[in-house]
Amino acid sequence: MKIGLACDHAGYEFKEQLKKYLSSKDNDINDYGCYSLESVDYPDFGHKLAESIEKGVNELGIQFCGTGNGINMSANKHQAIRAALCWNSHIAEQARLHNNANILTMPARHLDWQEVEEIVDTFLSTQFEGGRHQKRVKKIKI
Ligand code: RB5
Repeated sequence: MKIGLACDHAGYEFKEQLKKYLSSKDNDINDYGCYSLESVDYPDFGHKLAESIEKGVNELGIQFCGTGNGINMSANKHQAIRAALCWNSHIAEQARLHNNANILTMPARHLDWQEVEEIVDTFLSTQFEGGRHQKRVKKIKI
């Protein structure tokens, strides 16, 4: 699967670990930064990832900031983006099943690696349910 990754400094270490994890499972990874622990502004990276999904470069995106909120808000400014802030695998499953989320956002400062792995595995292996959820998802755009 083609997957884009993004983060700010708070999520840098998880983003790097996730890049290795997903690459080892034969995914095609595009990394939109950041590229070090130096303090940066999360919108710069959330927007790049969102644009890549709008252009069809990546099927899905995964991103981190400290709480997840800032980078999630940034990505959700894009019309075609449905970024879901997820802190456990049940929320990640629902985000795919019901909301057809195309970006998974996680709060790097509030999770450990095992939780990240579980959330990511669930998000990537769950498909949109469609049906009654389709018309609701269509109404999200303004
Ligand atoms: C950075 O310190 C922090 O503000 C950022 O990672 C994020 O939590 C913002 O929403």
